[in-house]
Amino acid sequence: MQTIEAIKRRRSVRKYIDKPIKNEILKDIVDCGRLAPSGNNSQPWEFLVVTKHEDLDFLAKVTTYGKFLKEAGACIITFCEKNNRHHLEDGSAATENMILAATDYGIGTCWIAGYNRTYEEDIVSHFNVPQDLRMISIISLGYDDSHPYVPNKRSIDEVLHWEKF
Ligand SMILES: Cc1cc2nc3c(=O)[nH]c(=O)nc-3n(C[C@H](O)[C@H](O)[C@H](O)COP(=O)(O)O)c2cc1C
Repeated sequence: MQTIEAIKRRRSVRKYIDKPIKNEILKDIVDCGRLAPSGNNSQPWEFLVVTKHEDLDFLAKVTTYGKFLKEAGACIITFCEKNNRHHLEDGSAATENMILAATDYGIGTCWIAGYNRTYEEDIVSHFNVPQDLRMISIISLGYDDSHPYVPNKRSIDEVLHWEKF
């Protein structure tokens, strides 16, 4: 799949079939995350891959809108150094790279809110995350079980401004 096709085809997927994702694919998806742009090329990220059922169940329980993590084949949590002033932008760029890479592999994903969430502390303590990191995002991953609904998107003419507003 070409990049533009992946961007245009991607939809959040919240239902998955029971099929594991190979470690080499998960590693390649994270590899696409680590190649994202970052302020001053500081690369302040760390990526945690979770595949064990009990840990996915834990994440499903603690997150507010991530109950479908229970059925996911895996999840990738992105953390960034909290003292880095671009930590949110850098971590978000890496997250989107991984989402698009997963799309290219035919794997459905959903970005689950991870920044500034009350459950960050629970996750940090459950997975022994170093204290100098902030959680940026959680991505659920799994082979697609459904045709996801098509969300309403603002049109190109509404959002594009040539030269001036
Ligand atoms: C920062 C951020 C946080 C999100 N958090 C959640 C979430 O907690 N649970 C969820 O089901 N979807 C979450 N989403 C997915 C959005 O709901 C989804 O992207 C949006 O409805 C548009 O649909 P689409 O991804 O299919 O284009 C989040 C997306 C972003 C970018």
